Amino acid sequence: MALDQASVKRALRKSIIAKRDMLPGAVRAALSLAITNKIIGLDAYRMAQVVLAYMNFGSEFETGGFVRQVLEDGKALLLPKLRKDRSGLDLHLVTDLEDGLEAGVWGIREPRGGDSIEDFSLIDFILVPGVAFSGDGARLGYGGGFYDRLLVSKRIDAASIAAAFSLQMVDAIPLEGNDIPVDAIITEAGEYFRNGTIS
Ligand SMILES: Nc1ncnc2c1ncn2[C@@H]1O[C@H](COP(=O)(O)OP(=O)(O)OP(=O)(O)O)[C@@H](O)[C@H]1O
Ligand SMILES: [Mg+2]
Repeated sequence: MALDQASVKRALRKSIIAKRDMLPGAVRAALSLAITNKIIGLDAYRMAQVVLAYMNFGSEFETGGFVRQVLEDGKALLLPKLRKDRSGLDLHLVTDLEDGLEAGVWGIREPRGGDSIEDFSLIDFILVPGVAFSGDGARLGYGGGFYDRLLVSKRIDAASIAAAFSLQMVDAIPLEGNDIPVDAIITEAGEYFRNGTIS
């Protein structure tokens, strides 16, 4: 049963990434800007003092505008760094997006190092990456389980928000026991809020 779900997930990942890879770069940039503007207008973002985000890779939503805005707004910015043994993500405070980052595994820009933040309860707002989402907040990631492990220990009232292109929205995501939904998904065409979380 669990094996079945895993292979359905793999197939869905492949097909959505293939579709997303077809978006021309200029379209991706324009959609990313529109989505970023919606996210920075959310109350949950405006109230946040500590924001965990990520640096995009491949054909993902481009997070550059968002992370620059976080710093400009005077909020603390945390970015993840994959542990050397790939057992999980360490979170580091970043104040300089040029000198503070270097290319890590798969070429993803990540913090150079320094002390990592152990206390997840400090985080108010999490920008969550992902491949596919459904309107009820279900999320399909890249298959590492890294964000499921991270989201399970977030503060209960911390907002978890995914930015995605509308082609990444599907009717249903094959879920397994460890999968943690996000509070909201923001696309260029719509906003999907999970009941009873943020608005
Ligand atoms: N909290 C957890 N504890 C232990 N294993 C976990 C946990 N969360 C996920 N996993 C395992 O990680 C593997 C990948 O999970 P899954 O397919 O859901 O990844 P994903 O959600 O696509 O990836 P990510 O969370 O990195 O974006 C699975 O074997 C899953 O059981
Ligand atoms: Mg998962």
